[in-house]
Order: sequence, then C-alpha cells, then structure tokens
Amino acid sequence: MRREEHGVEDSWHAEHGWVDGYGYAILAEEWRGEVGGLREIRDASAAVQPRRALPPAVAWETGERHTARLSLGDAAPDDVDQILRYRNRPEVGRWMLRARVEPEAFRRAWLEPGERDRSFVARLGDRVVGSCSIQVRDGSGQPGGPVQGCEAEIGYVLDPAFHGQGYGREIAAAGLDRCFRELRVRRVTAGLYADNVASARLLSGLGMRLEQYGVRDSWLPDHGWVDGAAYGLLAREWRA
Ligand SMILES: CC(C)(COP(=O)(O)OP(=O)(O)OC[C@H]1O[C@@H](n2cnc3c(N)ncnc32)[C@H](O)[C@@H]1OP(=O)(O)O)[C@@H](O)C(=O)NCCC(=O)NCCS
Repeated sequence: MRREEHGVEDSWHAEHGWVDGYGYAILAEEWRGEVGGLREIRDASAAVQPRRALPPAVAWETGERHTARLSLGDAAPDDVDQILRYRNRPEVGRWMLRARVEPEAFRRAWLEPGERDRSFVARLGDRVVGSCSIQVRDGSGQPGGPVQGCEAEIGYVLDPAFHGQGYGREIAAAGLDRCFRELRVRRVTAGLYADNVASARLLSGLGMRLEQYGVRDSWLPDHGWVDGAAYGLLAREWRA
C-alpha cells in the first residue's frame, strides 16, 4: 500500500499527546497488478515556510475586519445573491466538492449558519469578490483528549472577474488569521483536487504543508476519478 497521508501532530494519543498520523491506500487495479509506481507523499514533515511575505494580519479578535483591499464580514442576503451569480458557473463548480449548489439551501446555509460555521464574505465596496468557508470540527484520536472543536477546515471561492489578482491569497490569509487568532484552533486543513494549481499554489504560498495526496480518491461528474490533496498547518506555524 502507498502512504498517502502524513498529518503532522494531527492525532491525540492518550499517553503521548499529539502525534503524527499516517494513512495508507491502494486501488483495486493496483492490487490486481494492472498499474503501479504511483508516488508517495514525501514532504509532509518539512518545515513550513511561506514563499514570500504574508499579507498584513487581520485583527478579527478586535473587530477590525479588513485586508489591504477588502472588507470582511458575515453575509447579508444581497451578498449571497451575488455569490450565486458565479458559484454554479462551470469554471467555478469544476473545482468544488459540489459542482452545483441548490440556491435556497445555499442561501439558508449562509444566512442561518450553524455554531461551527464561521465563514465570511469579502467585498470591494459593495461588490462581493469572494468568500471563505470556515468549518470548526473535532480533532481525531483516542478517547479523552482535548479534541473538541480544536480544528477547522477552510475553503474559498472567488468571482472569476477577480481571479489572478492576489485576492484569493488575501482572503485565505484572513481566513487563517480568523482560525488561529480568533477561534484559537490548533490545526487548519484545506482540501482540493490535486490539479487545482491556483489553489495549491495559494496554500503552499501561505506556508501550508501538503499532508495528504489521494490517488484517484475523488469523483468529478465530467472527469471521473481524480486525485485529491489536503494541506495542513498548526497554530504555532502560522505567522511564526
Ligand atoms: C483558487 C482561487 C481561490 C485562487 O484565487 P486567485 O485570487 O485567483 O489567486 P491569487 O491571485 O491569490 O494567486 C494565488 C496563487 O495561485 C497562482 N495562480 C492564480 N491563478 C492561477 C492559474 N489560473 N493557474 C496557475 N496558477 C494560478 C498565483 O500565481 C499565485 O501563486 P504564486 O503565489 O505562487 O505566484 C480562485 O482561482 C477561485 O476561486 N477558483 C475557483 C474556485 C476554487 O478553485 N476554489 C478552491 C477550491 S479548493
């Protein structure tokens, strides 16, 4: 089997505290010997370093909620309508876990978020540039550990009119600030299709670490089984 996952300090052990977890996988065609030689992930233990200076920190905890160019906040009904204008476009949905969303359920999820949903929208004036989803969740490990609400998963989607201008990086950095500084989680993850180059560059450029690479583990309606990946970062590594 192939090691596809190395989560740095992602698992609670009753005697040893937070330890690294590994995950292994094999596909039926590999077991039958029809294909082989697929790579393992090797860089998960590497120290994380952003490739260039991070955007200025957003002070969520003091209520100052803007990046260099954008204002951030909870979604109002008009924001959700703006997001819905691009969310189901093929060039956006192609990269999402759900290629299409049902508008009414989507509206409800944004306007009546659950306790663990700390998503926000980012605006340039009145125009929504994009959004960052933040879902707080429990960590994994043996019973009895301090795992409750100790992790968050982030995601981000931009209006295609604003792609490629650094806004994604600005919004995702603000999301990480919210997770680590306001919500005080100990670990943040982000998942993507492995061929989403913009998203992968965005995450590694913010210093996140490739911790999982799943060979043909994700289904896409028009592409069939494709590779998935996940990045992770610990609180002490963010803006260290
Ligand atoms: C992924 C997404 C958020 C990136 O946001 P963005 O504002 O376009 O990206 P940025 O301008 O901040 O650039 C971030 C990095 O991606 C790179 N990048 C941006 N667009 C790219 C493209 N089309 N191809 C390759 N790299 C690209 C940038 O060069 C930069 O990398 P660098 O720091 O190494 O130079 C945005 O393209 C998007 O919303 N896509 C559709 C939805 C989606 O894929 N969401 C993520 C699901 S995991």
